[in-house]
Amino acid sequence: MFDLTPARAGVTEIRMLNTIVSNAPKPNLRGDYSHADAHYVVEQRCGEYTADEHALWRRLYERQMKLVPGYACDDYLAGLVKLDAGDGIPRFDAASRKLARATRWELVAVPGLIPDLTFFEHLAKRRFPVTDWLRTPAEFDYIVEPDVFHDFFGHVPLLLDPVYADYMEAYGKGGLKAAQLDSLKYLARLYWYTVEFGLMTTPQGLRTYGAGILSSGGEVVHSMDSPQPRRVKFDLERLLRTEYNIDRYQDTYFVIESFAQLIADTAPDFTPVYERVSTLPSYATDQAAPGDVLLSAATVRATAP
Ligand code: PHE
Ligand code: FE
Repeated sequence: MFDLTPARAGVTEIRMLNTIVSNAPKPNLRGDYSHADAHYVVEQRCGEYTADEHALWRRLYERQMKLVPGYACDDYLAGLVKLDAGDGIPRFDAASRKLARATRWELVAVPGLIPDLTFFEHLAKRRFPVTDWLRTPAEFDYIVEPDVFHDFFGHVPLLLDPVYADYMEAYGKGGLKAAQLDSLKYLARLYWYTVEFGLMTTPQGLRTYGAGILSSGGEVVHSMDSPQPRRVKFDLERLLRTEYNIDRYQDTYFVIESFAQLIADTAPDFTPVYERVSTLPSYATDQAAPGDVLLSAATVRATAP
């Protein structure tokens, strides 16, 4: 069976965005939203985590720690070490103090998925929403909604990196703008293929910075070592036109050279880009596009640890 964890988690995030926008019925969500404030923020009640939950966190953490060296980009690994979160479900206030010093970001606890506009507002103000509950042991390899392990282990380490931190703020502002322009479908693809499933070439070889990959027991190796997927040099318009897989590993990954490049390539006004891509057909997840610059299989294998 496939490990569907990151893909499903990410998809639900996007699906939530779509349902809010379309006023469709909301999916059934696990979290307790009754204590949430107007921004969907709750208090992280650390005392309510059980010893079993802390133990499950440690097991998830240990499995991922064995997987990520040689695959995760250095900035991610440095952030992970600084967070020092291997002992149990981490306290968000302690992480926020480290983030405040490094990049002026902070974490806010949320009961789970939140409306897209609320999500973008948080990012635009350098607040990262982290789900406050942990999956069950039966969901070790597979979970439908993002939980605290995906959100914290996958997303938080890179928020300690100043350049990545600026990209996330810009993305939040870009989300508020895309909503106005009725273009969330395209902007969601950018989040998917960078923040969740992005790859990066580094002097040491191919690495990942994507939270959906980094929090997955299976996609770390699939995304970087498997001969199956297409690994395409980042191209904004190509990416915005590319559909994604919601319930299995990705067929296509986009490869950046640095976070500085990502910021530069996404800095221009997207208004004309949205207009253009909305008139063009989308690419299927496994479809080749004219002009694709591919990472050769040899390059990929040569860079495996
Ligand atoms: N430049 C984008 C726009 O004009 C905003 C954006 C920046 C979106 C970075 C995503 C990431 O809409
Ligand atoms: Fe995520």
